[in-house]
Amino acid sequence: MLRNSSPCIFENLRRRKAIKKARILPDFFSLRRMEEEDLPRVVEIETISYPNPWREMTFRGEIYNKPLSFPFVIIHKFHRIIIGYVIFWCMQGRAQINNIAIHPEYRRMGVAQAVMRQVLDQIKKTGAGLVTLEVRPSNSAARSMYNKLGFEVLGIKEDYYNDPKEDALVMGKYLN
Ligand SMILES: CC(C)(COP(=O)(O)OP(=O)(O)OC[C@H]1O[C@@H](n2cnc3c(N)ncnc32)[C@H](O)[C@@H]1OP(=O)(O)O)[C@@H](O)C(=O)NCCC(=O)NCCS
Repeated sequence: MLRNSSPCIFENLRRRKAIKKARILPDFFSLRRMEEEDLPRVVEIETISYPNPWREMTFRGEIYNKPLSFPFVIIHKFHRIIIGYVIFWCMQGRAQINNIAIHPEYRRMGVAQAVMRQVLDQIKKTGAGLVTLEVRPSNSAARSMYNKLGFEVLGIKEDYYNDPKEDALVMGKYLN
């Protein structure tokens, strides 16, 4: 026999939905250097995030590509899991964002934008004057975020991406 659900259940559900939708403040996550043991989760997020994902060996290469590469995982402080990662290179007064992805369950909460702001601050402290990155023209979510962060299109690399084939927009932001 069906019983009436308690109003309390609906109240809890409503509250949980509200918490999930709430924007994540920088205090909710932390960044730490990527390590070998993070790779299964990182590859899981990569595989759901890109049609042509990086392989585990590529991430491993970034971990050991010191001092050029800065691979970081993004950890949700309360859920205590990796919810994304960002990888950038710094060399000779320039920096390049090579990869950033957030697990789909944690998107649209302001995580990537907050992480990028932290990364840009770090890069600025190294003395780099220009940060560049490549993005698919079809990736409107990423392009919108980069625009909000002050990146502008500097050029195009033809047929840069495979599966599906697409040009890359080269976007850049001057830090000085
Ligand atoms: C792009 C990506 C990193 C954004 O992560 P996110 O944590 O969801 O982004 P944020 O919540 O910080 O959003 C920042 C801004 O990006 C834009 N944005 C993010 N997701 C969007 C979407 N689905 N549609 C449109 N705009 C979007 C918005 O301008 C947003 O600002 P707003 O929330 O004030 O509107 C995430 O969608 C992702 O991991 N995508 C797959 C991997 C990828 O494409 N990486 C970039 C490669 S160049």
